Amino acid sequence: MGKFVELHKQTTLMEEMLFYDRMQFAFTITFHYLFPQLTMGLSLIIVYFKWKYLKTKNEQYNHATHFWMKIFALNFAMGVVTGIPMEFQFGTNWAKFSELTGGIIGQTLAMEGMFSFFLESSFLGLFLFGEKLLGHKWHFVTGLLIMIGSWASGYLIIATHSWMQNPVGYEILENGKFVLNNFQALFLNPWLWPSYLHNQAASLVTSSFVVAGIGAFYILSQKNVSFGKLFLKTGVIFGLISSVIVAVPTGDLLAKNVVKYQPVTFAAMEGIFHTEKKGSEIVLIGQPDVKDKKLDNKIAVPNILSFLTYGNWEQEIKGLDQFEEDLHPTNISGLYYAYHIMVGLGTVFIGLMVISLFQLIRGKLFETKWILWSLMFMMPFPYIANTTGWYTAELGRQPWLVYNLMRTAAGASPTVSSGNTLFTLLGFIGLYLLLGMLFLLLIGKIINKGPHNVDLSSEKI
Ligand code: HEM
Repeated sequence: MGKFVELHKQTTLMEEMLFYDRMQFAFTITFHYLFPQLTMGLSLIIVYFKWKYLKTKNEQYNHATHFWMKIFALNFAMGVVTGIPMEFQFGTNWAKFSELTGGIIGQTLAMEGMFSFFLESSFLGLFLFGEKLLGHKWHFVTGLLIMIGSWASGYLIIATHSWMQNPVGYEILENGKFVLNNFQALFLNPWLWPSYLHNQAASLVTSSFVVAGIGAFYILSQKNVSFGKLFLKTGVIFGLISSVIVAVPTGDLLAKNVVKYQPVTFAAMEGIFHTEKKGSEIVLIGQPDVKDKKLDNKIAVPNILSFLTYGNWEQEIKGLDQFEEDLHPTNISGLYYAYHIMVGLGTVFIGLMVISLFQLIRGKLFETKWILWSLMFMMPFPYIANTTGWYTAELGRQPWLVYNLMRTAAGASPTVSSGNTLFTLLGFIGLYLLLGMLFLLLIGKIINKGPHNVDLSSEKI
């Protein structure tokens, strides 16, 4: 009996340690990713503005480049400041994971730091301050290099993440360490490309909505109106293209990968508790009741899921009942809601952007107040969609840290107590709250000041 109580105590302690390790990582990475998700997409829009300037010599495009570059720089700085602690967390909170898989994830993470991050940060200074020195053509090239750096950075991080979702090209040594035996396989991982393109398109959704939202704000507040029109038009065009790409083909391909490589995750994401032999319905609304293994108050359309997934209306999709409970994702409700919020918001984004483009083509967008208000109000929602997208990926992988090979519990640092992790988590929350307020203050100042104010009312947009 004594031994049982001791064992129970140890298990509870381990669970508590793991819980705080996961909470700390979730909090720091959620906050961190608010910044790169804007900068990656925004770098493309900035390059577009500079390219338009080179083509048309319309000064407004150059002022737009400068304005968004300021916003980019502030977000980039926040991304760096909040990204560095995460690298340390690998060592402090996830020491076992780093020790065993360092031979693989160390490669891509080091390349990210050495090549992409350095490329991006070195050229950022030149782009911000070197326009006169470089001339406009080289200024454009510098902007392009910043974009390549930031997209390459995303690629290498997603290559690392894809290896955790679908491990390839590895070998496990006798001491339990993973080593890479096929470097190419790491970059040809079938998980990688759909995930990368989905993520980059999602980043472009965020930046397009921010550009369009600030444009709408300028028009509604009658400040910098000509810039407002330019931003709105650009944001709507980029926003529609990226919102569609996020759904088809990238979201669709990614879902097909999940069903192929992680069928139990797919069942939980879609809320399929019981296998339906004659084709699965798609659930539009419903609340998972994990205890009784059912969905409450559901609205579903029969057979659509089987068709979307396999192109066959009657194809069976495995439900959670086909897998041992020990292999089920640990937070089925969280995973289900995260996935449905992401997809639901994606549908709203496409709808709003289609209506906005329609009004733009009719020449009525700038006067349609309800659309301007909606676009302004929508600005935070792509951030929510990106965050829930990442929650889908991360909760979906549980209980694995490296899918099918290493449990999350096996990767945590065995000697860091839950008290320590909770204490530093509270520290992070306090510090990031201050940082967040400072960021909002500075960004508010930049937006309030607006792009360089010259009379452009005669320019055609
Ligand atoms: C509209 C339909 C959409 C579909 C079908 C879809 C599908 C998916 C799937 C299947 C995953 C992978 C889950 C896993 O790894 O287990 C995912 C992840 C993700 N989604 Fe979506 N998604 C959609 C919309 C969106 C939107 C609108 C955004 C943001 C604007 C977004 C952002 C993300 C992100 C950031 C990830 C994690 C990174 C990645 O694996 O690329 N998704 N999505």
